[in-house]
Amino acid sequence: MTEMFRDKVDVSLTVNGEPVEARVPAGQHMIDFLRLELGLTGAHASCEHGVCGACTIRVDDDAVRGCLMLAAQADGTEVWTIEGLTDTNAIRDLQEAFVVRNALQCGFCTPGMLVAAEELLSKGGTPSRAEIREHLSGNYCRCTGYEAIIDAVESVAQGRAGKGKA
Ligand code: FES
Ligand code: FES
Repeated sequence: MTEMFRDKVDVSLTVNGEPVEARVPAGQHMIDFLRLELGLTGAHASCEHGVCGACTIRVDDDAVRGCLMLAAQADGTEVWTIEGLTDTNAIRDLQEAFVVRNALQCGFCTPGMLVAAEELLSKGGTPSRAEIREHLSGNYCRCTGYEAIIDAVESVAQGRAGKGKA
């Protein structure tokens, strides 16, 4: 075991609205901390080098790759995973739109896709299909095809704008 993994770092953060205090290996990735230490397995570890987006989580209002962030870097941050966003109904309209538009099959990419899409939608306005496509270009889906995903996100953007949220 290298020094990097033997050294421990104390972190204090919130995860899905709950305070978390932990002593983490200095080299532990955030996605592993969430999945292995906190049991939050909604965000997935796949490529583990920043390419596929399956590990996407929200950190202080930004969509972040959990495989490129160290748990030690989460000290003082506010972290949300798909579990918390689901429990609080924060993205219920987006989740429902994915179902209605058949924007998921196996669901492996979906948690990361939803977190990334919500980052765009939370900025307000009504993004164009090109803007949605660009924003989600770092999230890979191997099943569904991207048109349905773009359809779902676009419909939510229009729906929120119609309700005066945008
Ligand atoms: S697992 Fe993090 S980007 Fe693929
Ligand atoms: S729904 Fe299977 S990878 Fe996207």
